Amino acid sequence: MKTDVFGKLPDGREVHKHTLTNKAGASAEIIDYGAIVVSLRVPDRNGKLDDVVLGYDNVESYMNGTAYFGAIVGRYGNRIGKGKFELDGKEYQLTINDGANHLHGGKVGFSKVLWEAKSAGNSGEPWLELQYVSRDGEEGYPGTVVLKVRYTLTDKNELRLDYEGTTDRPTVLNPTHHSYFNLSGNLSNTILDHQLMIEADGTTPVDSGLIPTGQIASVDNTPFDFRAATAIGARINASNEQLTFGKGYDHNWVLRSGGGHLAKAAELYDPSSGRMMTVFTDQPGLQFYSGNFLDGSAKGKNGVAYQRRTGLCLEAQAFPDTPNKPQFPGITLRQGQTYHQTTIYQFSTR
Ligand code: BGC
Repeated sequence: MKTDVFGKLPDGREVHKHTLTNKAGASAEIIDYGAIVVSLRVPDRNGKLDDVVLGYDNVESYMNGTAYFGAIVGRYGNRIGKGKFELDGKEYQLTINDGANHLHGGKVGFSKVLWEAKSAGNSGEPWLELQYVSRDGEEGYPGTVVLKVRYTLTDKNELRLDYEGTTDRPTVLNPTHHSYFNLSGNLSNTILDHQLMIEADGTTPVDSGLIPTGQIASVDNTPFDFRAATAIGARINASNEQLTFGKGYDHNWVLRSGGGHLAKAAELYDPSSGRMMTVFTDQPGLQFYSGNFLDGSAKGKNGVAYQRRTGLCLEAQAFPDTPNKPQFPGITLRQGQTYHQTTIYQFSTR
């Protein structure tokens, strides 16, 4: 592993960039600001390495950006309706930062803070462990949470994320990883030709503010049926109220595994480069976001302006708005308990 200075925060603190390179030559660059994956270089079917994630080449852009490129988001990934929830009979009001709702942990959350690079391993498969201590009351959440995320770049070209979290008071914890993937390696292409398969028979439909209604809808005969690999662009413009609300795909799929153990969640394939990404997770939900809000205003690496749908996110997590939906799998974390998540993005070719 190699560590360089990536930039400086306005208060003078340095942001470091850590480069993990595996035996196969694949590499991941991760900064301690937001625990962000800045680049991820994996081979195409001819062995050519290309960067397959959207991102910036300077700290200022990450500080000013609103897309959460490559970050660990939290304390709660996705939305909490009106930013309110009740826990053990007490109501909590979180920061409102998305219309009337709370999104991705609030204005600052876990994605716009400096994490501490705790430890790293150089022998065997390279890994980096980052830690963030979120104080009691931050963004309105109760309890001091200590979250560790370990990134490993395995020799099988997997980017593996192991999360571990604790609290000193009851709280909710549901972090996720927010890389925008574009397997073509050309980050000005759209992802509409990418073929997606999701191991799910249902989704959690949303209202116009993208808050789940609480129901689980079958994907049968809908543009949400990705049980067989289908091009993302094939049905994205179909007339469908849920697609209108999301301005495309921006929904949570209810994974067939139910969560609790590591299982395959999705496969993403780019026919042009032959790159395939298989996602494994132990989470119950997968948010598929088709980059609908990208509009060319974000100028990324090498000056590329990221246009609509040039990257897509596959975010493993609990269902959105779980703190207000007792029927969804719970995410309350109490003192003495440890939150765990493992999610793997595995790259291969076809
Ligand atoms: C959400 C989108 C949101 C985006 C922010 C995604 O995880 O599902 O609704 O706009 O993050 O970049």
